[in-house]
Amino acid sequence: MTAGPDMQSRAERRFAAWYDRMTARVERGWAGQRRAALVADLTGEVLDLGAGTGANLRHFRAAAHVTAVEPSAAMRAQLVTKLGHVSVPVDVVDAGAEELPFPDGYFDAVVCTLVLCTVPDPDRALAEVWRVLKSDGRLVFLEHVRAAGVAARAQDLITPLVRHLGAGCHPNRDTVAAIAAAGFIVQAVERFKPVPRLPLIAPFVAGTAAPAVRLQAAERFARGE
Ligand SMILES: C[S@@+](CC[C@H](N)C(=O)[O-])C[C@H]1O[C@@H](n2cnc3c(N)ncnc32)[C@H](O)[C@@H]1O
Repeated sequence: MTAGPDMQSRAERRFAAWYDRMTARVERGWAGQRRAALVADLTGEVLDLGAGTGANLRHFRAAAHVTAVEPSAAMRAQLVTKLGHVSVPVDVVDAGAEELPFPDGYFDAVVCTLVLCTVPDPDRALAEVWRVLKSDGRLVFLEHVRAAGVAARAQDLITPLVRHLGAGCHPNRDTVAAIAAAGFIVQAVERFKPVPRLPLIAPFVAGTAAPAVRLQAAERFARGE
């Protein structure tokens, strides 16, 4: 799946149409709980990157405003049906993560849930996340990532099939390393294997990160240097 103008391949439409039904059980359980823990307390201007069918939206409580960026028209069609049940104002924007139509330092928080596995160019997307975050902003994430050892090699083998069935999803990305390489300090990260488990779609990570340069500057300021 590429960024930018809407892509309406049959596989993408099918994935969007089935997404909420496929995930309903886990959303009632661990996934819904993880989403709430990550986003409920976020304040100010918040970007929900690759917002999909809007699974995060009902969990926002304190945000002044949420911008839900989603390049797939099929996903956006599902998302807009949920806007009546959201307790914060939401705007929906058709854009790709690799080229965000927002000024530098605009957002207080960026939310990436199950999206850095899918964006075609995660390094460019993370550079854009860094750019649009405020100096004291924060990235929160919930992603499935590359396993270790034999399981990682098995993930490499099944990636072409999963990409096809999962509208671009890569089970084998080392997303926490990519976040660090993009100039973030990962402040808290929990690795976990949820149940029920999809074979080779594990482990998951949930955490927060802050732009490294800005964080170091804030620490120096706090020390009076
Ligand atoms: C597995 S879904 C996850 C949706 C949602 N974030 C969630 O937590 O349920 C992956 C999403 O990434 C979106 N996506 C794909 N390419 C993208 C890009 N270049 N920029 C932003 N989002 C993208 C897809 O359209 C899809 O909605």
